[in-house]
Amino acid sequence: MKTTINQVHKYVNQEVTIGAWLANKRSSGKIAFLQLRDGTGYMQGVVVKAEVEEEIFNLAKKLTQESSLYVTGKIVEDTRSPLGFEMQVNHLELIHEAVDYPITPKEHGTEFLMDHRHLWLRSKRQHAIMKIRNEVIRATYEFYNKENFVKIDPPILTGTSAEGTTELFHTKYFDEDAYLSQSGQLYMEAAAMALGKVFSFGPTFRAEKSKTRRHLIEFWMIEPEMAFVEHEESLQLQEQYVEYIVQAVLKNCQIELDTLGRDKSKLEQIKAPFPRITYDEAVAFLKDKGFDDIEWGDDFGAPHETAIAESYDKPVFITHYPTSLKAFYMKPDPNRPEVVLCADLIAPEGYGEIIGGSERIDDLELMEQRYEEHDLTGDAYKWYLELRKYGSVPHSGFGLGLERTIAWISGTEHVRETIPFPRLLNRLYP
Ligand code: 4AD
Ligand code: MG
Repeated sequence: MKTTINQVHKYVNQEVTIGAWLANKRSSGKIAFLQLRDGTGYMQGVVVKAEVEEEIFNLAKKLTQESSLYVTGKIVEDTRSPLGFEMQVNHLELIHEAVDYPITPKEHGTEFLMDHRHLWLRSKRQHAIMKIRNEVIRATYEFYNKENFVKIDPPILTGTSAEGTTELFHTKYFDEDAYLSQSGQLYMEAAAMALGKVFSFGPTFRAEKSKTRRHLIEFWMIEPEMAFVEHEESLQLQEQYVEYIVQAVLKNCQIELDTLGRDKSKLEQIKAPFPRITYDEAVAFLKDKGFDDIEWGDDFGAPHETAIAESYDKPVFITHYPTSLKAFYMKPDPNRPEVVLCADLIAPEGYGEIIGGSERIDDLELMEQRYEEHDLTGDAYKWYLELRKYGSVPHSGFGLGLERTIAWISGTEHVRETIPFPRLLNRLYP
């Protein structure tokens, strides 16, 4: 019977065959312990000299790291392994011998590992992070389906800038100029007027010259947009969504979290509601903490966000930023037009901003005024203005950065390990 490592619990005391790679090996004159991986998990295969044909034991002893093989044997319980099972190997069939695999069990530098990302993905930690990424994606679709959102795919090639705050990738689009999308939001607003509650999930691009542990050039964003939803209601959905994905990972990725040595008690606390502070309160708090340089109207940097996050064991919303700091489409607070109805959600433990969101301007005249202030001339933005012309309604939305969220949940220091093939300031390979 051919099966996979994550299914062996169904075959206790039965003989099965698994296609696998050799992750590691220990052997003596009488016994060989093969650490096998097949993509679904890790399992030990035990080859006992006295119980197999001589050539099989010889093969087991000379197997090299990352060689591929079919292993056949009996599945038995093994309470010491995280899997709970191991294989008593009867037969081995070498498929391909790997010679001089570059990533050995010793320590390697990050640049070396990044140059070998196509192979590094096979290692235990990277495997665990990709499984967690998959669970966050799965739980995201589940959550928004449960909440009756419609998935909408905004274009990647666009004629406009959505954020204005970051650099765009430019390309020629036949005779026109085009940019890789930095956010699908403007299109999602159009979709919300057609379908009510919508979400997008796709790659976005920012030509930022930032070289920090939180910045990727290409990253994935989940962008819900909701008609007839004001700021407060949007915050409630955001905290429910974040709780949902964290709890899903806790439930379905226990082996992976343990592999990464993640403190699970920190994740267990992630339940809605989340604390909220206003930008004004955040500035006062930072001054109090000794950040003398910060003035009302300044944006927060990573050290400021971390200082604020350290006061909480849950993500914290910072709301009502100065209008001047934020994107042109954000709705001013009717009682205080110098601030906008927005919030950034800051993850605990120094992982930074994972969500940016706001209520959107729905008044045509005010939007026209913003167009002038931000010099959004030309035809490219014409359609967006028309959303305010024909049946405008209050609406809100937000964007969650997938990789920063995974970095936080998995306890991974740098976002570059949370995406299969990171695009960084100095890296387009592999
Ligand atoms: O705060 P941002 O720029 O918001 C928007 O783009 C809005 N249009 C979203 C919306 O309202 N629909 O980006 C949203 C999130 C950030 O909070 C962060 O998690 C992530 O996207 N992000 C990045 N992640 C990795 N690398 C980068 N360079 C990122 N820039 C933003
Ligand atoms: Mg932001």
